[in-house]
Amino acid sequence: MHLYAIGDLHLHFQAELKAPGQLHGAVWQHHEKTFRENCARMIRPEDTLVLAGDHSWGRNLAECEQDLAYICALPGKKVLLRGNHDMFWDAKKTDALNRLFEGRLRFLQNNYDAFQDYALVGTKGYTFEGPFYLRGGKIVDWDRDAEAHAKKLIGREAERLRQSFEAARRDGYRKFIMFLHYPPTDVMEHNSVFTAMAEEYRAEKVIYAHCHGEHRFHDSLEGRHHGIEYRLVSGDYLRWVPSLIL
Ligand SMILES: [Fe+2]
Ligand SMILES: [Fe+2]
Repeated sequence: MHLYAIGDLHLHFQAELKAPGQLHGAVWQHHEKTFRENCARMIRPEDTLVLAGDHSWGRNLAECEQDLAYICALPGKKVLLRGNHDMFWDAKKTDALNRLFEGRLRFLQNNYDAFQDYALVGTKGYTFEGPFYLRGGKIVDWDRDAEAHAKKLIGREAERLRQSFEAARRDGYRKFIMFLHYPPTDVMEHNSVFTAMAEEYRAEKVIYAHCHGEHRFHDSLEGRHHGIEYRLVSGDYLRWVPSLIL
């Protein structure tokens, strides 16, 4: 029984594709076919696959129908995180989504899922992404209003993550794997409210996605930091091969 993770499928079987520049290139050519083949080869029915957000370009459930059907048809149990592009997933309607897809998909927010004796906890997260002002290749300043706005969103997401940890802890879980869609830190940070929470609850691993394209792959923590393993699992970074977590 294995736990796998990958993020940023950015499916668009129905929705018109308005992808930003970094989602073009050879790695995105027929990526949904490549990914489905990799899953069929690697993932058994008893395994769990965590999809770390940005599932679909669709703007609502109707526009995501084929994308979600594709995800349902992948092998194993599927646990989904909310990404910044997942317009179909109203943050206040996670319970409704869980009822609608009961037995097919599990939506992770303000709740948790179990894998063996681990609790899988997670939320979308948030990171300040600039604009940064550069001089000589170094960050010399940044947009203070955008930073203040980001701090508000980070606070809200941290609260959701704490609810996820607490729900698992109430049910007796003491071992945690933590998932975020956004990276746990921005490009200037080594620690954040998210890394602090991972340390507080002694999460063994922090798995995140969202970073696309070579120049973004190393925006945040990788490897071990304060005893916790940090790992980027965005699909193009993994070249559509699900990452083995446990
Ligand atoms: Fe993405
Ligand atoms: Fe994203």
